[in-house]
Amino acid sequence: MSINFHDEKNKHTYAARTADSEWIKLINRYLGSKPGTALDIGCGGGIYCKALSDLGADHVIGMDFSESNLNGARENCRSYGNISFVQGNALDTGLPDETADMILERALIHHIRDLDKCFQEASRVIKSGGLFIVQDRTPEDCLLPGSESHLRGYIFEKYSKLISKETERRHSSSEVLKSLSAYQFELIDEISFWETRRSYQDVQELNLDLLNRTGRSILHDLDDDELQDLVGYILEKLSSKQGEPLIEQDRWTIWIAKRRNR
Ligand SMILES: C[S@@+](CC[C@H](N)C(=O)[O-])C[C@H]1O[C@@H](n2cnc3c(N)ncnc32)[C@H](O)[C@@H]1O
Repeated sequence: MSINFHDEKNKHTYAARTADSEWIKLINRYLGSKPGTALDIGCGGGIYCKALSDLGADHVIGMDFSESNLNGARENCRSYGNISFVQGNALDTGLPDETADMILERALIHHIRDLDKCFQEASRVIKSGGLFIVQDRTPEDCLLPGSESHLRGYIFEKYSKLISKETERRHSSSEVLKSLSAYQFELIDEISFWETRRSYQDVQELNLDLLNRTGRSILHDLDDDELQDLVGYILEKLSSKQGEPLIEQDRWTIWIAKRRNR
């Protein structure tokens, strides 16, 4: 069964990490000195709302269609006075035209089939000249082999039945570029980026993260017995790392675009 974003049990699933410092440095290069109002669509637990605030945004609006994820985000961001949250759908946000100086859609578009509608809505609510940052994994990013740092690759080595599910929901770069261009976005850069997802003290901590399916929607397609077998498989792959810290990374594609003037 796929993840249910509206289940209260999942409310902390996208709030359990902090943004990678290399990600922050990368985004900082594009944001400029006055990011203004930032809109984080599909904000999950607010990890990147905090990062955008730390990067100097005057105000960050976190939007998600899941009230339970927003509850997790509100808790996660409670010490930030300039972050507010609103429930809404990426395809029809309900926000006024030209609300945001910049928009982030991180790990959102693989949950959305109608990319055109999603980018058309972003194009409406962003100001002319505004920065649109889309980050997701392409099918190629997802299917890189497993290693001591790219743990996600082991999931598909162990369960090839998940490969089609994963690749079918991922948009190719050419699809993303086509929709960006159709809705008045000019591409500035397309970046292939290894982002540190999490550091673990040891394999036991990783074990727990996997068993809780934290922030890994694909694991909701495995039943508990299959998940247990997967964890055993991964721990065997990491047998030489017993008692050592682990750094997990994922490969992403980041499209940086600018809204053409109206
Ligand atoms: C994989 S999580 C990513 C969360 C966050 N952006 C991050 O990178 O940590 C995807 C989020 O998008 C939200 N979402 C999925 N489809 C959506 C839609 N059509 N409109 C708004 N939010 C949506 C989910 O509820 C979930 O919080």
